[in-house]
Amino acid sequence: MSAPNKSYDPVEVTALSPQELERARDEALAAIAAAGTLDDLKQVRLAHAGDRSPLALANREIGALPPAGRAEAGKRIGAARGAVGQALKARQAELEDERDQRVLVEETVDVTLPWDRAPRGARHPLTTTQERMADVFVSMGFEVAEGPEVEAEWFNFDALNFTPDHPARTMQDTFFVGSEETGLVMRTHTSPVQVRSLLSRPLPVYVVMPGKTFRTDELDATHSPVFHQLEGLAVDEGLTMADLRGGIGVFVEGMFGEGLKTRFRPSYFPFTEPSAEVDMQCFVCRGASAEPGGDPCRTCSSEGWIELGGCGMVNPRVLVACGVDPERYSGWAFGLGVERTLMFRHGVEDMHDMVEGDVRFTLPFGMEI
Ligand code: PHE
Repeated sequence: MSAPNKSYDPVEVTALSPQELERARDEALAAIAAAGTLDDLKQVRLAHAGDRSPLALANREIGALPPAGRAEAGKRIGAARGAVGQALKARQAELEDERDQRVLVEETVDVTLPWDRAPRGARHPLTTTQERMADVFVSMGFEVAEGPEVEAEWFNFDALNFTPDHPARTMQDTFFVGSEETGLVMRTHTSPVQVRSLLSRPLPVYVVMPGKTFRTDELDATHSPVFHQLEGLAVDEGLTMADLRGGIGVFVEGMFGEGLKTRFRPSYFPFTEPSAEVDMQCFVCRGASAEPGGDPCRTCSSEGWIELGGCGMVNPRVLVACGVDPERYSGWAFGLGVERTLMFRHGVEDMHDMVEGDVRFTLPFGMEI
């Protein structure tokens, strides 16, 4: 190793000249001041305070100076590097502060904004009404049964004592699945589930059967090609029409209020004998609107009575078709309209509201389970 060059004059080492150091320092300070982000500052730090920065390189030159000049040069460089280091620290703090402020603003949670952008749905009132209707019978010990919506003609008609040329088959205006030869229909009522229940359950049978039914009606304010029924069936020893009236009475009182009367009007269904249409006393005016001088009632159109559906004693021919001995067993059955029940129970006036699925119709009924 050669000894330091005694004739080496520090003022002639450009990198160590006061002007050069000043220039390097000022450049560094300007770059620091200009750094707009923490990433920029990182680059600036590398360029002006890193190992290969002008000031670091100048520092290395000190060793080459004669000892007399080293202290002086070292002081100058130290001051310059100190100033740069200070400026870096200060700018770093400033930029971090700015970033924190920005994050605070950007990530602010406005607790007053609406939180329910994806509003909850609601159960359809037809579903809840249907369940509520069935529940009244469940409370009397009935079980709930279901059957298919695409049904064999045999279950929908034949087993229910509709003869092949029975006018009711056309009366019911059936949707056939494919051609009439397939023997498959969209069930026109829930009564085929009576047959399925009798064929699959041990006696006695007490079941309610809610579900969709289909007829070729046009959709209008009071009709829909798809509607719902609640079917009921009781088959046991010794059942009479008094039990039917009692069962319907409990339903009406459970669903609409105590003390409401029911009445039967003679009717005809191939699968019940005798058959009846069942009406309940209007739960709003309790019949008063039909009395002379009574105030008009919108719920029952001042009839005093509201039609609920059909019912009757199970025709022995149906029992035979289902393998039940009519000498030993008798039964009663009914079919109630769910749409009708929803309409007069809640003042729904247009069938369209029930089928359109607009949540604005559904929500006011709440989330009743
Ligand atoms: N199935 C009949 C209808 O849809 C209603 C009914 C059911 C009548 C049970 C009597 C007994 O109109």
